[in-house]
Amino acid sequence: MAGSGLAQAKRPLSTLATEQPAISEEADFAGQSILMNTSTSSHSSSALGADLPATLCYLNGDYTALRDAKISVLDRGFIFGDGVYEVVPVYAGEPFRFAQHMARLDRSLAELRINNPLTHVEWREVAQKLVTDFTREAGTTTPPDQLIYIQVTRGVALRDHVMTSGVAPTIFVMTNIMKPVPAAQRSSGVACVSADDFRWEKAHIKSTSLLGAVFSRQISADVGAMETVMFRGGYLSEAAASNVWVVKDGCVLGTPKDHLVLEGIRYGLIEELCRAAGLGFELRRISRAEVIAADELLLSSATKEILPITLLDGLAVGSGQPGPVYAKLYAGYQGAKSIPTP
Ligand SMILES: Cc1ncc(COP(=O)(O)O)c(C=O)c1O
Repeated sequence: MAGSGLAQAKRPLSTLATEQPAISEEADFAGQSILMNTSTSSHSSSALGADLPATLCYLNGDYTALRDAKISVLDRGFIFGDGVYEVVPVYAGEPFRFAQHMARLDRSLAELRINNPLTHVEWREVAQKLVTDFTREAGTTTPPDQLIYIQVTRGVALRDHVMTSGVAPTIFVMTNIMKPVPAAQRSSGVACVSADDFRWEKAHIKSTSLLGAVFSRQISADVGAMETVMFRGGYLSEAAASNVWVVKDGCVLGTPKDHLVLEGIRYGLIEELCRAAGLGFELRRISRAEVIAADELLLSSATKEILPITLLDGLAVGSGQPGPVYAKLYAGYQGAKSIPTP
């Protein structure tokens, strides 16, 4: 089945809704957006490391320049992808929905049988220090929107598949600028392609084992599309790095919160926004036919917030333009950003 998904996605898109530069967690962290401070640094840098920014990060209890942060080659995150992560948006210097991210981090860690090495208060202290430092380095009075990246791995041990116990988890946190979605994508929507969901059946864990997501995202990248909308057994699951929402007759439909999808932090937020806007909200299995017949399709993630899909596999979604439900939810989302959350 995976092969058919790839073949399907390889079809060239006749027209793209608009140009599709990737706005994804990966792009935000790997792209050019990190504040580069290559001017002076007292830290030693390898030839490669010298190209990395000096932005402050946190590694195992120490604050250090990102370019100088190092872990062991035997870290189980490196060897097995044996770790979990979180990406928390920061608006006006305040982590958004931090408590929900902490709750999801706890759930992911519990699945891996790793004890959370920090309390929620300690996580917030680390995050706040990095956000404050980043803001100071940016030299602006208004804090730039940021993305905090948190990663916890099982730690360093001799290579053995079994879940080694008694090792100290590796803790890493960095922050980076959050680039807004380009205005053209907001106004015209984005093109996506579909593919079979060939990932594993523990998609609810925000795991650093992301090779399935990398393959999935590349299917859309290869044809210049924004995301890959995945189906498992003929039913919608999610996209490579986003949740997917179907709008039909004024109701927002999402996939159930089970082991087949990551419960994005926007699940709860979208439900709240629907309630406030008088829209229906339902989580249930959604067939491919229902996705194709949708009035509107939406993506959600920390970086995309809520984003309309206007082209799927080269075919217009609904009217082919961002719809009224998107407009309401997006407006609600912007309002929610300024409401303080725990
Ligand atoms: C597979 C997957 N689904 C959904 C999401 C959306 O989650 P959130 O809204 O918490 O960013 C992400 C975000 O990275 C993801 O990787």
